[in-house]
Amino acid sequence: MPYDADIAAIYDLYFGPREPEADLWARLAGPAATHLLEPMVGTGEVALLLAERGYCVMGVDLSAPMLEVAEGRVRSAGPEVAERVKLIEGDISRVVLPLDHFDLAYVSHGSWHLLAEYRMRIEALQAVRRSLRPGGKLAMELFPPLKASGQSEPRAFRPFRPAPAGLDVVKTSWMERDAVGQVLRIHEVLRVNGRESENDLFLQLLAPGQVEAECRKAGFGSVELYGGFDLKPYADGDPMMLTVATA
Ligand SMILES: C[S@@+](CC[C@H](N)C(=O)[O-])C[C@H]1O[C@@H](n2cnc3c(N)ncnc32)[C@H](O)[C@@H]1O
Repeated sequence: MPYDADIAAIYDLYFGPREPEADLWARLAGPAATHLLEPMVGTGEVALLLAERGYCVMGVDLSAPMLEVAEGRVRSAGPEVAERVKLIEGDISRVVLPLDHFDLAYVSHGSWHLLAEYRMRIEALQAVRRSLRPGGKLAMELFPPLKASGQSEPRAFRPFRPAPAGLDVVKTSWMERDAVGQVLRIHEVLRVNGRESENDLFLQLLAPGQVEAECRKAGFGSVELYGGFDLKPYADGDPMMLTVATA
């Protein structure tokens, strides 16, 4: 399983500051928003940043080890913040969510691409749409489509954040791009205190028209695509494809 205990233990070490993501989601939620949903919440860092700003945040994730890290993080934030965060273990395409409830659902860091099958993505979009209040939004930080196939050389990375004392971590990864099927495979070898584990992630990338069509199929009204956190309209070659669909 890709997001197992080994990955969960070091997942956050490979991120820079996540406040810019929290700023973006707060901006898209709008000033009157109170209730947010994070499908595929992982270790909950962005969810907690938003709860600290006063939002009630519900996070859903398949991986028990990732949620354990999130629960520890929420507990250490103290009872006032913790009572605004609810974490649910489940598949976002099947989980039962409150209806007509959230102002914004946001998907950070390309997680949506882990939904490999069309049917799964449509069911997940439908579940999220039903959970949004009328006029509520789904915002997804997606990666742009692949332009060419090929494989990168392996590269070793040390964590971007200081690792806890006694933890020696190196991640070596390479990518295989399949521009025909629009599949990005990320192969990782994780070495933690000399113990190695291997991990393969398969990300299903989506053409702009496909994202729009899937959102509409799931019942969303307007669908906007942006090329970055500055909310300029998406153009070919942009580094990201931020999708905002309105319920
Ligand atoms: C790249 S991590 C992102 C976590 C978090 N959103 C972040 O930005 O740090 C992707 C997460 O998606 C979860 N995931 C994958 N498929 C899922 C599904 N069908 N339903 C719910 N969670 C899923 C994984 O367990 C993992 O924790």
